[in-house]
Amino acid sequence: MALNKQPYRGTRDFFPKEKRVRDYLFAIMTKTAESFGYESYDGPLLEEVELYKAKSGEELINEQIYSFTDRGERFVAIRPEMTPTLARMVAQVHRESSKPLRWFSIPNLMRYEKPQRGRVREHWQFNCDIFGSPGRIGEVEILQVAVELFQAYGANHTHFEILLNDRAIVDAVFKIMMKASDEQTHRLYKIVDKAKKITNEALQKMVKEIGLNTDSENIFYSYLHLSTFVDAIAFLEKNNQIDIANQFNAFIELTSKANLTDYLKYDPTIVRGLDYYTGIVFEIFDKHPDNRRALCGGGAYANLLQIFNEDPLPGVGLGLGDVTLKDFLEVHNLLPNLENPSNDILLTFQEDAGLDATLKLAQVLRKNDLKVIVGLEVLKFKKVFPIAEKKGVKFITLMGNEEISSNKIQLKNLLTKEQHEVSLDDLETFIKFIKA
Ligand code: HAM
Repeated sequence: MALNKQPYRGTRDFFPKEKRVRDYLFAIMTKTAESFGYESYDGPLLEEVELYKAKSGEELINEQIYSFTDRGERFVAIRPEMTPTLARMVAQVHRESSKPLRWFSIPNLMRYEKPQRGRVREHWQFNCDIFGSPGRIGEVEILQVAVELFQAYGANHTHFEILLNDRAIVDAVFKIMMKASDEQTHRLYKIVDKAKKITNEALQKMVKEIGLNTDSENIFYSYLHLSTFVDAIAFLEKNNQIDIANQFNAFIELTSKANLTDYLKYDPTIVRGLDYYTGIVFEIFDKHPDNRRALCGGGAYANLLQIFNEDPLPGVGLGLGDVTLKDFLEVHNLLPNLENPSNDILLTFQEDAGLDATLKLAQVLRKNDLKVIVGLEVLKFKKVFPIAEKKGVKFITLMGNEEISSNKIQLKNLLTKEQHEVSLDDLETFIKFIKA
């Protein structure tokens, strides 16, 4: 039986056209992260499952992880997220490193999910994290990285919004105001995480099952109705959570100094499925009605290093997936045309005798940082242009007997249709024309 030519379900082959798009997305991620002083890192594809069991949460472990026992009886998983690997790496070096550590990476991750729009089994995720940052400014900086990244793709606040919450608020509401036990709090988190995806009746039923008293239930529903930062802060103050209110207020004031106000919206249902978050939590949502989904998620985590018996070192970071980002850019028409590659020049020869001079010319041009394609056989005039178009070249040359004997060549600019005669003894001028 013939083998299947298609990739494994939920994974993608990146043909040159798709790979060009991915390279474009990654180049802007790298440029933005580096513009904030973030350094690139990477880790292994496999980790021991224990690493994820410690803090990643039930859904990831029970439903999504690709795990197996290796030949040495170790229970390992293909990384479903990068944050635990990052924490493991930071735990090795943080004592000797000056802080904050600003690191970024674009790993491929695998999660066993039902493939659908925006969800696949292998995706690449831009991760940007700070460890050991002073106070709340690190949290604000991560939001700035996200906004400036989207701006670098040509997007603004009409295209996306950052829905934000703080787990310190959620904990205060559940544990102090509602007096929920740890077990009840855990269940409330799961309900809130699902709140937007289920009906009101289903929500009420789930809340009833927790067994809270009526006052606590009322507080819970009031909390779920909060929709602005001002309301959230007033709600905390009214319920005597002054410290939490002040801290959150200070954070919101900082975001306004960083010009983030237009992008941010308070959302009480944002709590994030991963267990390690302790401070702000956020998800970036597409505003386009055809693509209302999370493009990016992140938050602050204070205790991740403790799983390695290290002292706490607060961190904050984000993860942005390539699939959702591409869908976002497409739906808003923000993706540049990458249908064809981009090259500087196509050198062709019309007679076999032209090969020598063509190869020599190509060598010199490449040494001058130009992208040069050589026609690998005698190419008649008519065939040159369609090839040039497909390869996205800006200039062509044709090397025939006349050019060889005169040592002069016509350099054609395909965009302006201009033609320049240049001597092969004066390659400086030749290169200048192309670079101009
Ligand atoms: P996450 O919310 O699980 O966070 O994933 C972040 C983003 O990765 C999502 O918003 C989505 O764009 C993309 N993503 C996740 N799963 C899939 C999938 N199956 N198919 C396509 N895209 C997907 C984290 O992973 C955290 N570790 C992020 C983080 C970094 N927090 C702090 N630092």
